[in-house]
Amino acid sequence: MKNLIEAVAKLIKNSNHTIAFTGAGISVESGIPPFRGETGLWGKYNPEVLDINFFRENPEESWSFIREIFYDFFTDTKPNPAHYMLAEMEKRGVLKSIITQNIDNLHQEAGSKTVHEFHGNSKTLICLKCGEQYSASEFDFKTISPKCKNDGEILKPDFIFFGEGIPPEAYKNSFAEAEKADICLVIGSTGEVMPASLVPQTAKKTGAIIIEINPEKTAFTQQITDIHLKGKAGETLTVLGNSLF
Ligand code: APR
Repeated sequence: MKNLIEAVAKLIKNSNHTIAFTGAGISVESGIPPFRGETGLWGKYNPEVLDINFFRENPEESWSFIREIFYDFFTDTKPNPAHYMLAEMEKRGVLKSIITQNIDNLHQEAGSKTVHEFHGNSKTLICLKCGEQYSASEFDFKTISPKCKNDGEILKPDFIFFGEGIPPEAYKNSFAEAEKADICLVIGSTGEVMPASLVPQTAKKTGAIIIEINPEKTAFTQQITDIHLKGKAGETLTVLGNSLF
């Protein structure tokens, strides 16, 4: 594996536009469970609670799950070595951008500057009635659901629910980056969710080398991966960073 990682480091050093596409797996070592797999959240919770129509009709019930799934877990999570290594790669100019499906803000907290959040971010809450935005930290929603100060509406976390569109800016930037990339690192994603999984597929189509970092095989591995670094993101990226600089 070390030789493979050294070969990847050489490819990245000679590349013009390396990007990273990340999924829930990169945050597992920060203590945030993935959605799929044996410890996956979808094995414990019904994804319906994150359907936008369910939220509009049952905001209080939806919030009881949202709080448990996203806020009880996320409160004291910190970036792990994988997040820090990607931030270091960006700082040294070898990584141009991150497209993430994650809503945990850990890339930004690790110091990454160019992060396109394909599914939004859990740190902001929004009023569906008047559009007012709030920081989630303004609320202690352990008991009650957060309400808009303008009109009393129950606020919605500003990440996308099933049935909602991808934030237009993030969508545009993500595919623009995929088309420019000559290397796309695909880290910690099953590749089972559309349209996010089209981002690495677009990179592949426009000539990028796909380097996957995941302890398991995924939908990407069969379809588009050129080099599969079979391992956890934290240790694999640390070894890669040591070969890069
Ligand atoms: N390092 C790298 N990869 C890991 C690690 C780790 N330490 N632990 C688990 N993984 C991998 C798993 O093998 C799996 O392939 O991370 C992946 C997690 O899969 P999912 O939970 O399905 O995550 P993701 O692909 O990002 O899900 C996409 O689904 O429900 C929606 O909006 C949600 O953004 C999420 C989307």
